[in-house]
Amino acid sequence: MTASKEKPTIRGKFITFEGIDGCGKSTQARRLAQRLRQQGHKVLETREPGGTPIGRQLRSVLLDPGNDAMSATCELLLYLADRVQHLDTVIRPALQREETVICDRFHDATVAYQQHGRGLDLASLGGFLEKEVLSTTPDTTWWLDLEVELAQRRIQQRIRGQGGNEPRESRLDDAGREFHERVRSGYAAIHGSEPGRMVRVPATGDEAEIDATIWNLLSQRYDLR
Ligand code: TMP
Repeated sequence: MTASKEKPTIRGKFITFEGIDGCGKSTQARRLAQRLRQQGHKVLETREPGGTPIGRQLRSVLLDPGNDAMSATCELLLYLADRVQHLDTVIRPALQREETVICDRFHDATVAYQQHGRGLDLASLGGFLEKEVLSTTPDTTWWLDLEVELAQRRIQQRIRGQGGNEPRESRLDDAGREFHERVRSGYAAIHGSEPGRMVRVPATGDEAEIDATIWNLLSQRYDLR
């Protein structure tokens, strides 16, 4: 094989999954981790918020539908607190051990939800963000793109399937359709500015079909041996 055709190894790579609520990314993250393990890779499967013991406490505060008094800035800082703890104690150590890290949501979610969705200015965090978060960027991000209406229908089906009679399971479910449209546009904007890192995967097909698409694209990018 010539040098120009050599693909980088999947070992030590940081892979993230993103998309609006109900797009099916958690299922795909799990499927990809499983496939890589079957190939003999050491995979760290994690998520945000909630990838550490402290993060799990932050997650329940963040998603509690009772916390409707939470300000947008408080919300932003809690997501960042979760991320910094996760990076310091879980993600960076795993990457240093050359494990493949698969993370269900990462900083793109903050750009999409808090910046585009809530209208907050992340640039004001400047140096802090650069040093604590942006110094570790995903190598590849799968953006599972789905129309808001379809995604919301899936969420309602999921809640009904769990026997819930509450129309919501997370504080973010109350945010409204326009909010989720802004979040989706946020992901489109990130994809537009970093098309090499963020790959758009239409999320309308069935699980196995999407899984096969991702695996196929992944094997074009990386040496999976
Ligand atoms: P999940 O259901 O995909 O685990 O995500 C939980 C919720 O948190 C989801 O509605 C998206 C939201 N979220 C943000 O608003 N900002 C963030 O930075 C992250 C990681 C998630």
